[in-house]
Amino acid sequence: MANSFTVKAPAKINLGLTVTSRRQDGYHELESVMQQVSLADTLLFEPIQGTGWHFFCTDRDLSGPDNLAARAAALLEERAGKSLPAVNITLYKNIPVEAGLAGGSADCAAALAGLNRFWGLGYDLAELQELGLLLGSDVPYCLKGGTALAWGRGEKLERLPPLPFFWVVLVLPAGLRMSTASAYKNFDKNKMGEPALTPLVTAIREGSRSKILKWLGRGFTNTLETAFMPGTDILKEKKRALEHRGLRPILSGSGPALFMLHENYYEACKAARMVEEANCRAYLCWTL
Ligand code: C5P
Repeated sequence: MANSFTVKAPAKINLGLTVTSRRQDGYHELESVMQQVSLADTLLFEPIQGTGWHFFCTDRDLSGPDNLAARAAALLEERAGKSLPAVNITLYKNIPVEAGLAGGSADCAAALAGLNRFWGLGYDLAELQELGLLLGSDVPYCLKGGTALAWGRGEKLERLPPLPFFWVVLVLPAGLRMSTASAYKNFDKNKMGEPALTPLVTAIREGSRSKILKWLGRGFTNTLETAFMPGTDILKEKKRALEHRGLRPILSGSGPALFMLHENYYEACKAARMVEEANCRAYLCWTL
């Protein structure tokens, strides 16, 4: 019988995100600089007696068959077309849900990678990414990880040099969830193609912390920030309250998670405290 093992599923932030066009299939073409951070879920794979796979999540609401990790198991099982060793998959959930941090996609990627190993399916990274794209646009990136420039639906990926180390303060306005589909539907179409990401990519290639921070400090880093939908008012109000305290939070993905990068640990702790004082949840983590 195979041994038990765990796979980490790190969250991602979008240092920049530009929607460039709408496609015939309803998806949008984008360009984005993606970065993994240390806040992560963990998936445990355990051999068991019997047959089939069984999926559990520490968050009961996420334990059903719709969970992207369960859907990854179902897809691999269907493709294998044969009986596979029985396994318990347990998802230990830390990443906030529907926050723009790719928590579900990260779990999906970890399930694909973990079950590929557990079941000895022999898929390479490109094949797993192809399967992953059937389940979500961010899954191919989550399989690859690190610092990357993504385009297409998000599945075309070029590895960038690792981002210089930063402390990351993630900001979660309490109880706010926003749907990705709704953000893509409701963003300001006049802002298509903005912001240009070239200066950010150049700064990363140069490894220049100051230029990276300068670009992030420009304010408009994400086309989806212009989306108007339920929750937008609360998010804008929280952002303004933080800016009033001298912080510069940036939207990740379709939100509502915001983030800030800090070079100094004490500055990051101070920022996290201010976030909590503004009645938002703060997660202190770092770039991977
Ligand atoms: O691929 P994923 O399931 O994460 O996408 C969720 C929704 O976000 C899609 O159904 C689509 O409405 C929107 N989307 C998009 N263009 C992308 C990615 C997502 O329009 N590149």
